[in-house]
Amino acid sequence: MPTNQTSGQVSNQTVHQNREQPLIQAQNVSRQYRLGEAIISAVNDVSLEIRAGEFVALLGSSGSGKSTFLNLLAGLDRPTSGAIHVRGRNLAAIDSMELARYRRDTVGMVFQSFNLLPRMTLEENVELPLRLAEVDRGEREGRVAAATGQQSCYNWRDGLHRWPAGRAAA
Ligand SMILES: Nc1ncnc2c1ncn2[C@@H]1O[C@H](COP(=O)(O)OP(=O)(O)OP(=O)(O)O)[C@@H](O)[C@H]1O
Ligand SMILES: [Mg+2]
Repeated sequence: MPTNQTSGQVSNQTVHQNREQPLIQAQNVSRQYRLGEAIISAVNDVSLEIRAGEFVALLGSSGSGKSTFLNLLAGLDRPTSGAIHVRGRNLAAIDSMELARYRRDTVGMVFQSFNLLPRMTLEENVELPLRLAEVDRGEREGRVAAATGQQSCYNWRDGLHRWPAGRAAA
């Protein structure tokens, strides 16, 4: 039996900012991790609504459950309890193939670290999700060039001059 219980700081907040139907709706979402005998309540009964066009920042001290909650919204993980509806569909209830499609087609993520695959060039890394989405080669080339070239709002090449070693720097 679990003996310890640690409570995260993200809890029971509901945001209503306008009257449109929410694009994302989290209802009483909890995520517990089991660590040996201990149960860690990383996300504890969180309710939140986000409408189209809204920008939302999730704030909290280290360990308060931000990444855990974002992983749930992004379909990388499933809640222990509660429901997450995106455009009216409950992510907790869809199968893993549909969840993969949701991550591929609907979610965009910027991770704290780049999470690039080291055996591929920068361009190949950027192209990979487009290949998985079966985007035509011609369109892929244009989109990769736009994302990695001068038009990009972020100078990837400066940021990634050492990654992957010797290939992305070309
Ligand atoms: N895979 C895991 N297994 C067990 N406990 C975990 C796991 N991932 C996170 N935790 C615990 O859950 C709690 C919330 O972690 P989380 O990473 O979501 O916090 P955070 O708010 O994103 O922190 P930071 O600001 O440091 O990124 C912490 O106590 C953490 O140790
Ligand atoms: Mg985090």
